[in-house]
Amino acid sequence: MSSRRQFVKGASILGLAINWPSLISKLPISDLHAESVDWLQVRDLFPISSWEKIHLNSGSAGVMPTPVQDHLIELIKKVNSKAPYEVWGEWQETKTSNLSRLAEMTNCDHNELQIVRNTTEALNMIIYGLALNGGDEIVMGQQDYPFAKNTWQNRAKRDGVIIKEVDLQIPAKDEEILAAYDKMITDKTKVVHITHITHREGHIMPVKKLSALAHSKGAEVVVDGAHAVANINLDLRDLDCDYFASSLHKWLNAPLGTGLLFVKEEKIKDLYNHPSSNLDAYDNMNKYEHLGTRAWANEIGVAAALDFHDALGHQNKLDRLQELKEYWTGQVMDVANVQLKTWIEPRYSGAVATFSLDNISNRKIRKSLNKDYNIHVKSVDCKGGGGIRVSPNIFTTKEELDQLVFAIRKLSEE
Ligand SMILES: Cc1ncc(COP(=O)(O)O)c(C=O)c1O
Repeated sequence: MSSRRQFVKGASILGLAINWPSLISKLPISDLHAESVDWLQVRDLFPISSWEKIHLNSGSAGVMPTPVQDHLIELIKKVNSKAPYEVWGEWQETKTSNLSRLAEMTNCDHNELQIVRNTTEALNMIIYGLALNGGDEIVMGQQDYPFAKNTWQNRAKRDGVIIKEVDLQIPAKDEEILAAYDKMITDKTKVVHITHITHREGHIMPVKKLSALAHSKGAEVVVDGAHAVANINLDLRDLDCDYFASSLHKWLNAPLGTGLLFVKEEKIKDLYNHPSSNLDAYDNMNKYEHLGTRAWANEIGVAAALDFHDALGHQNKLDRLQELKEYWTGQVMDVANVQLKTWIEPRYSGAVATFSLDNISNRKIRKSLNKDYNIHVKSVDCKGGGGIRVSPNIFTTKEELDQLVFAIRKLSEE
């Protein structure tokens, strides 16, 4: 069987649509197919693999593999080859098929989705679009993302909504999280804001249970799912949230400046239009598309990232991310002075895990990892002392993680 056919077979096993854009036939990964993946071959497809540093900060922003990057460059060339709006017109079919493929991946209807620039933009559209009055209460958590908090605080300043913050030490058991939110929700609570995967510990919050709790008390649910798409299995129907925001440039390795807005079908008409939308567009996600002239190539380039993802196989990728996290955490969790801030079981975390050392500050650890061991990570502030966030990706090798483990052991002895 040819490699090309193996690709397709792998994909159809996973139940994915196979009328992909022609990009897949151009992928220079002839032996790669969805049943078994050579991860070293995958690594070679990422320009980041030539960086002199070991890149363990995919949580901040993803990077594109070469086929996606090359495709994006082709799209940019195309949009500059004639009147750009003509090209945008020609791209409408790909735009629609991107939404259908993302809907299939996240289990919702494509009419509930819109591609936007990032999680921040999607959250702004939701938070500024909700019909709220002064005195309405919003419940969120101290672990939520600072810029999402800013958006709510700006809304509070403008309209007098009241923000109440749940103060939990994360990670925590689902029951503890539910009890803390339950205590905070009153009959004035109109919205519960939940971060699906926290940016500091990488903890997966019990969104489905929190949604059920919020709904039982008459509140709507906004989810900041920046880290969810292509990092963990995401089922929007099952989560039953009302609004969901994500970034495609993180774990899907899509072009920078691509994100996803989801609004549950029955909620679309009541969410305010984007300010520049036609007044008759209220009951249609299309109202979030009237954003003026922009970098359309990025949005259309999502097709290539989806092709790449499908070629690897969705579950293969998720399993690999778990394998990498388990590989390094398993070797340091019992080392003296090491504190893991993340629960490693797949139900509690995706690719990201965070640690700290009792004997050295996070700032010093980050600096030393960078300078002495050539490792790029992010240091994060958490309740209870913060830590070093390690986010490997499918281009990360176990040898690179060995270097991290070696460095952590050395630093823990200082
Ligand atoms: C939980 C969370 N929300 C929102 C964001 C913002 O994502 P973006 O910069 O893609 O808008 C991030 C970024 O890391 C995040 O971790």
